[in-house]
Amino acid sequence: MKMENKLPMILVAMALVMIASVSAQNCGCASDLCCSKYGYCGTGDDYCGDGCQQGPCYSSPSTPSTPSSGSGSVNVADVVTQDFFNSIISQAAANCEGKNFYTRDAFLSALNSYSTFGQLSSTDDSKREIAAAFAHFTHETGYFCYINEQNGASHNYCDSSYTQYPCNPNKQYFGRGPLQLTWNYNYGAAGNANNFDGLNAPETVGNDAVVSFKAALWFWMTNVRPVESQGFGATIRAINSGECNGGNTSEMNDRVNLYKQYCQDFGVAPGDNLTC
Ligand SMILES: *[C@@H]1O[C@H](CO)[C@@H](O)[C@H](O)[C@H]1NC(C)=O
Repeated sequence: MKMENKLPMILVAMALVMIASVSAQNCGCASDLCCSKYGYCGTGDDYCGDGCQQGPCYSSPSTPSTPSSGSGSVNVADVVTQDFFNSIISQAAANCEGKNFYTRDAFLSALNSYSTFGQLSSTDDSKREIAAAFAHFTHETGYFCYINEQNGASHNYCDSSYTQYPCNPNKQYFGRGPLQLTWNYNYGAAGNANNFDGLNAPETVGNDAVVSFKAALWFWMTNVRPVESQGFGATIRAINSGECNGGNTSEMNDRVNLYKQYCQDFGVAPGDNLTC
């Protein structure tokens, strides 16, 4: 390697280290962990004592709705207003199972376990994340009509190669909740992160609206957030790759149109690379 090439490499390496340390300082702890004043997850005095921002703090968090992350922080509750939530669920028919299940309050409660959701480096990116998530929630549930995947019981969503998440033969891991959590390995991991028994009681995701939104936010932060900067199309791929590359263009377009609508509602441009 030529000497003059080394400096840029070092700068890139330093930038990566800085990005890594900044993102490590965000909380989005499992519900049994505290978010320390420095933004790390854990238990005990250092995390749950003075300055604890979230989780089972020893005393009430001092500023619960003011996340510590960058200048782009938005108060998600100010974006996802009751009017916004109603504009979606009001389109579900009165006899829908989700109609009296999904609520804005349940979403905001679940958010306490995922305080970095909707907190990106710019306000616009933060609003785009919220718009994208609600576009997928709307699409996956038919405007919050469905809790459970239609004909879900006719599918086998047990992948026994995930030996750390053994299927309970009496349980089914079909789609449930705002992002239609599916498969034993997702139920197992979402449960571990949120204090419910995803493998032996997957129905919790369909019975408890707060858990249901937590499971969706878990999937979002684990699988969607990492690709979000590539554009909305990448979020579709992360949630249902089968719709991409012509797999189901009308379904894909429905997600894109919802996303554009919600971006417009929030007063933000949708960005590029909307399809997949
Ligand atoms: C796309 O998905 C919808 C809903 O599952 C289905 O009704 C439709 O037949 C699918 N279209 C194609 C081309 O696969």
